[in-house]
Amino acid sequence: MSSSCGTGGGCSHGVNIETPQRPLITKNKVNEDLQNYWDTIYTVVDYQKNGWYEEIPQKSLDLIHKLKMNKNARILNIGAGTTTLVDFLLEQNYKNISATDISSTALDILKDRLQDDAKKIEWITDDLTNPTLLLDLEPVDLWIDRAVFHFFTEVKDQETYLNLLAQKVKKGGYVILATFNLKGASKCSGLPVRRYSKLMLKSKLEGNFDLVESFEYTYTMPSGDTRPYIYTLFKRV
Ligand SMILES: C[S@@+](CC[C@H](N)C(=O)[O-])C[C@H]1O[C@@H](n2cnc3c(N)ncnc32)[C@H](O)[C@@H]1O
Repeated sequence: MSSSCGTGGGCSHGVNIETPQRPLITKNKVNEDLQNYWDTIYTVVDYQKNGWYEEIPQKSLDLIHKLKMNKNARILNIGAGTTTLVDFLLEQNYKNISATDISSTALDILKDRLQDDAKKIEWITDDLTNPTLLLDLEPVDLWIDRAVFHFFTEVKDQETYLNLLAQKVKKGGYVILATFNLKGASKCSGLPVRRYSKLMLKSKLEGNFDLVESFEYTYTMPSGDTRPYIYTLFKRV
């Protein structure tokens, strides 16, 4: 098993996002180096070949199914990238989906894939380690993050993320957090990652969230290589 899950990269750029049917989002302040890094990855690699690409995000869908949420529930897909989860949620008739990522290139690819359905999504280009637009977001019923939180190796970035999480998930709402587990790779896309156990994630969220369920899952990448993840489901207290 190699120690990385995708490609690394250099520079490209893009910030503004407009949504025809949702509030207009025009201006933002992000870490431009990081944004350029991810924009380049999504520019140079076909998104279906990325190490994290899932044709069917089955484990996330299974957890969401268990929640039996109303179709009007507010769902925030964190670090959505080009995830197919959004397609499946739309297909299942969820009506209040927001997708955020630091890479506007990734979100543009996702929008292109969704075609007209892209209008049904609220798109937010923002930096989870220095959020601006996300601070104005109405609280959500479900925050779902697969393969994003583990990139925040600095405690200050983790704290920023966790503060936003505590502010933006309604009481009684849920968090799905899936990261590399302790047997996982030490890098993804050329960037170092922090690996977690169930108890490590529980201690990060404790106080505001109860752990409802967790399981380990070994994901097979498009290359055939494998990546062990820990999936956790938390409920806001
Ligand atoms: C490994 S990909 C996972 C994408 C998606 N969640 C999935 O499962 O297909 C990590 C994503 O996190 C995004 N990301 C990385 N750092 C970020 C940050 N500071 N703020 C917002 N998004 C970030 C990247 O642009 C990328 O799309």
